[in-house]
Parts: sequence; structure tokens; C-alpha cells
Amino acid sequence: MNFENLLTNSENGILTITINRPDKLNALNKKTVKEIGEAIKNAKEDTSIKAVIITGSGAKSFVAGADISEFVGLSIEQGKTLAQAGQAVFRSIETCPKPVIAAVNGFALGGGCELSMACHIRVASENAKFGQPEVNLGLIAGYGGTQRLVQLIGKAKAYELHATADMLNATQALQFGLVNYVTTPEQLIPKCVEIIEKIKSKSPKAITGVINSINAYFENGTDGFETELNEFGKCFATEDFKEGTSAFLEKRKANFTGK
Ligand code: COA
Repeated sequence: MNFENLLTNSENGILTITINRPDKLNALNKKTVKEIGEAIKNAKEDTSIKAVIITGSGAKSFVAGADISEFVGLSIEQGKTLAQAGQAVFRSIETCPKPVIAAVNGFALGGGCELSMACHIRVASENAKFGQPEVNLGLIAGYGGTQRLVQLIGKAKAYELHATADMLNATQALQFGLVNYVTTPEQLIPKCVEIIEKIKSKSPKAITGVINSINAYFENGTDGFETELNEFGKCFATEDFKEGTSAFLEKRKANFTGK
């Protein structure tokens, strides 16, 4: 995969996507958003990829937001179209059938905070800073940030962060449940790999069922319990289920194939 604004590296079944515009603190211009979508699509389709890590280039920033320079002069319709493209790509991360972890290595502001929230798990380094500062620009979040921040930390704090543009440091983000873990900068990727290795030892089919069922809780008009029923039922037709139950009964470690 060759991208203008992303670096990609595939190792041991883990695709690492690094947003690579360090001189702009990895701000998401249209091209970068499009390329993230392409990289995620590839991760879905490539059977050798079992999980994804998304991080930012350089020591200072994960992603410092959507690229503000592209906002100038947009009409109402153009603004909406820009947000639609971002929402669609971030939704494709959230619904990716393979686990996606954000390794937040610095500023995660605006679209950067939104990108991290679209991932299934967030690990932050101690220097991470989270915020939705769009109101400083006379804007609001447009890539799902108003919805996912409420989902993750509740209405009261989400309202406060969006309305004040205050930033959370890594410790606060952990306290509020916005991130799963905080590490030193050196341990950031190793911690993500450790989590992924644990997940990789489980049934990929079951992991997809978990992702689909948890997502259903947050989908308007979807009965999450119904989704869970369907996902549970589907497991019984998988090789993974046969292998998992056989391994348990035979007192051995399961060797899942994702079939
Ligand atoms: N869009 C476009 N460019 C951005 C950017 C963004 N969201 N965030 C940072 N940059 C650019 C800066 O313009 C600067 O470019 P330049 O060197 O060509 O002038 C470069 O990245 C470095 O940023 P700078 O502001 O000099 O770094 P800093 O350490 O002083 O401040 C931030 C860091 C993150 C606090 C500051 O860059 C900032 O507030 N960024 C915007 C955050 C934001 O509002 N995000 C939501 C957008 S909807």
C-alpha cells in the first residue's frame, strides 16, 4: 500500500497505520481521511491482517484535528459533504470486523479525538491531550465527536468538553473512561501489541460478533439484544466454535482459524 500521508507497516498480522504529516501535527486533510478509509478497507479484506493500530508520526501529536486550512470558504453544503466523508471513514473503523486500537501519542484534538474514539480501544501515552476545540473556530465537531464522546464519557462531561474546548490530559482521560490505558511514550506501541496478542489468541469470528453487538447498542433503531441473539447464533456455524469447545473438552489450547 502506497499512500501520500500515511505510513503503513504489517508485522505479525498487525497493520500499523501512521498518520504522517508531522509538520502539520498530522492534521487530517481530505486526502488523509480518504487514505485512512482505503487502508481500513484493505485491512478488512486482507486475510493476513488480524488487527490494526492507528497512531501519529512524531513525538508531539496523534492528530491535531481536521486540517483547518481546508475549511476556508466552504458553503453549508460543502461543509456537510466534508463531514459526511469523515463520518463515513470513521464509521468504517468502528464497524471494522477486526480490532482497531488507537495509540494516542500526543495531541488528539478535534478530528484527532474523533479518530481515536472511532477505534475500539484507546491507549494513550503520558503526553496525550484530548479535546474538541472546534468552538474556538466557530465550529462544532463533524466527524462523530458529539455522539461518540457522549457514548464514552457521558453527557455532562461531553457537553463541558465540547462547549469549553478544554483539554484532558492522559490521566484525566483515563479517569473519565475515554482511554483504556496510559503508558510511557516508549511503552505505547508495546502495550497495544500486548492487547492485540491477547485478542489474536481468541476466535476472530467471535471477536467480530463482539464488535457488531457492542456497536448495536449505540445504533438508533437497532435492538442490540436482537443483534446479540443473531451474532450468538451465528457462532454455532463456525469452525472456531467447534475448535473452541473441542479444545476446552480436550483440555488443550484452542487454535482458531477465523473460519
Ligand atoms: N489544521 C491545520 N494545520 C494545523 C492544525 C490543524 N488542525 N493543527 C496544527 N497545525 C499546523 C500549524 O498551523 C503549524 O503549521 P505551520 O508551521 O505551517 O504554521 C503546525 O501545525 C504546528 O502547529 P503549532 O500551532 O505551531 O504548534 P503548537 O505546539 O504551538 O500548538 C496545538 C499545538 C495543537 C495546540 C495547535 O496547533 C492547535 O491549536 N491546533 C489546532 C487544533 C484544533 O483546533 N483542532 C480542531 C480542528 S477542527
